[in-house]
Amino acid sequence: MSADVSSASRFDVVVIGAGAAGLFCAGVAGQRGLKVLVLDHSEKVGEKIRISGGGRANFTNRDLDVRAPQRHFIGDNPNFCRSALSRYAPQQFIELVQKHGIAFHEKHKGQLFCDGSSQQIVDMLLAECAAGGVERWQPCKVGKIVSAGPGSYQIESSRGLIETPKIVVATGGLSIPQIGASDFGYRIAEQFGLRIVTPRPALVPLTFGGDAWAPYAELAGLALPVRIETGAKKEKMAFLEDLLFTHRGLSGPAVLQISSYWKPGAPLTLDFAPGVNVAESLGEAKLRSKKRIANELATLVPSRLADAWVGQDPALQRPVNEAADKALAALSERVARWQIVPSGTEGYKKAEVTAGGVDTRDLSSQTMESKQPGLYFIGEVVDVTGWLGGYNFQWAWASAHACAQAL
Ligand code: FDA
Repeated sequence: MSADVSSASRFDVVVIGAGAAGLFCAGVAGQRGLKVLVLDHSEKVGEKIRISGGGRANFTNRDLDVRAPQRHFIGDNPNFCRSALSRYAPQQFIELVQKHGIAFHEKHKGQLFCDGSSQQIVDMLLAECAAGGVERWQPCKVGKIVSAGPGSYQIESSRGLIETPKIVVATGGLSIPQIGASDFGYRIAEQFGLRIVTPRPALVPLTFGGDAWAPYAELAGLALPVRIETGAKKEKMAFLEDLLFTHRGLSGPAVLQISSYWKPGAPLTLDFAPGVNVAESLGEAKLRSKKRIANELATLVPSRLADAWVGQDPALQRPVNEAADKALAALSERVARWQIVPSGTEGYKKAEVTAGGVDTRDLSSQTMESKQPGLYFIGEVVDVTGWLGGYNFQWAWASAHACAQAL
């Protein structure tokens, strides 16, 4: 390295990435007495926290089962996340939020949101960093990182050379590049010979290209509860959540959740009237009603959907008592078991998270240290992806805490 090492800034730990995991880790490590620098290439820190949860940050989930936390996470080794998540539970983060006087509420399925703004969580993390005497540099670009012998790294940065025995990479995934996401973490991992599980957009809307989508595009804006399923046998996964039709495809919590499990080319199966036996209901209607089929169906699903489904088949545009049994059976099957193959996803521009990342086979689940001594990875950059609903932030807090305890 050509830079003048004598003028280098020295820290016990350098955390790269001042997002959820990086800020939390820096604060905890600083309060344990370490001299910590956290740096970020963006001018503003914690931007993803700020935009999360519709501006109210769904900062954790009460339903996370500390005895089996892996149930709400995916990755090549779903059990990897268990140690950190069971040692730093949602309740511990809730206590921190309460200590800072931040009011919150439960919205749905254990999801906790700020009553006010998500900026309160960012401010809380910054206050925790300040309490630990953490130094913050942003914007600060990171250049070359070299291992300068056992227990020593040199980092070239736009604010000068830094020397440290420990680096924590907390640069997140690839989603939402417009607010600072980069592939930095994967590149550093590769530089030091660590393996990467190919990243892919997750918690992302799905698209259905071509003319086949045309009849459904007019349903854009329609939201309804559905049961959605993908995969076969052991890989089968299903969610009971709300679905949203968009101009290009499907979104809403049901689709975001299933997108993390969906494999390109595989079909999705949707039940638009979960808990209702559509075939039986339409069969009974045929015996007692003279209403049009669309109107009968509209007692089971939203009328816009009923119209779209019935509108596609002339055999269904008649009173229900005049319908052929075969036509009613086909309609019931479509409502209860609609199969469709997405053409793709909306990509990193719209994805809430990136699945894949630094391969957990090269990390310690206890400390988050990699096979390269003194180099740690925490948060979304790791191949651990949570369900929608505060699980990804809980992974950021828990992995950061496990790492900070070990530094
Ligand atoms: P995070 O992305 O938070 O931070 C990474 C930091 O590294 C950023 O500050 C970035 O600028 C910096 N960085 C990147 N490259 C760098 C480089 N080369 N040099 C220096 N710095 C660099 N989750 C949840 O649990 N509840 C929710 O409500 C939501 N809502 C939500 C909404 C939207 C729109 C998105 C996109 C995501 C969510 N998420 C979420 C997911 C959640 O935001 C995400 O999982 C965590 O922020 C991940 O935390 P990290 O600290 O790992 O990365």
